[in-house]
Amino acid sequence: MFTLAYLSDPHLAPLPTPAVRHLMSKRVFGYINWAASRKNIHDRDILDAITQDMLAQGADHIAVGGDLVNISLPDEFVRAADWLRTLGAPDEVSVIPGNHDAYVAMNAATGIGRWDAYMTTNAESMRHLADGPGGFPFVRQFGEIALIGLSSAVPKPPFFASGKLGAAQLAALEQILQELGKQGAFRAVMVHHAPLPGLSGRRRGLDDVHDLEAVLRQAGAELVLYGHRHVHAVNMLAGEPPTPVVGAPSASSSHTDPDQQARYYLFRIWQESNAWKCEMTGRGPKGAEGPVTELEKTMLIG
Ligand SMILES: [Fe+2]
Ligand SMILES: [Fe+2]
Repeated sequence: MFTLAYLSDPHLAPLPTPAVRHLMSKRVFGYINWAASRKNIHDRDILDAITQDMLAQGADHIAVGGDLVNISLPDEFVRAADWLRTLGAPDEVSVIPGNHDAYVAMNAATGIGRWDAYMTTNAESMRHLADGPGGFPFVRQFGEIALIGLSSAVPKPPFFASGKLGAAQLAALEQILQELGKQGAFRAVMVHHAPLPGLSGRRRGLDDVHDLEAVLRQAGAELVLYGHRHVHAVNMLAGEPPTPVVGAPSASSSHTDPDQQARYYLFRIWQESNAWKCEMTGRGPKGAEGPVTELEKTMLIG
């Protein structure tokens, strides 16, 4: 039995005070938005309660689905790196970037490059798989379980929160999924933006969502994880067998609506009679208040 813990969109608060020169960009719109509303949605106490509960579960690996920061201030990336270290060492935690982690074009060394150790292919995968273009997809294998991390984070104009994978990354993903499929591995794919058409509008969706859906259908995957919409959702991508596609709410959300309240997930994965089984448990503070408790338990596969 392997346990994968997954949370997304922590949007770490509080926001560091930005230098005026850092606001001379799209960041100014994000800063106004943060001050006007988002700072009331993303609650650090809720995130801390969730991560404490998650760490107590002793999962085999932790996956973080992007949007660690808010307007891509250099100080936010430093704080996010500190936060990642509280979750575990780079070989115990994987992270992918979200659109807020690429809010403006910036030097990788002062941006997501600070999380590089959490976004690399591990030694077990390195033996037969190479990183995709620009380091994505990266693959982390733990015996027969494989986690494939994609980057859909590209800087976009103001009022766009969309993303893009690009043809080269999609081609590498297809190859990786086929190779892991031949090995009979459990393939968990993690991408920040919603991976199926119809889940997000044009300004918030993945530009090449149809291409991603086609790759997932053709090459196959056992589980797909995403964040970005800040909504708990389970969809099935038709196939033989169908692939569960799980969307996570923000792990720091103070919303009380059942589908938007803060959560993390535990995926328990095992094999029975040569077939994969996967059970999903969502845990969070009920109604965004009180202790972290089980919110749902579902057999996704088997
Ligand atoms: Fe987000
Ligand atoms: Fe996002």
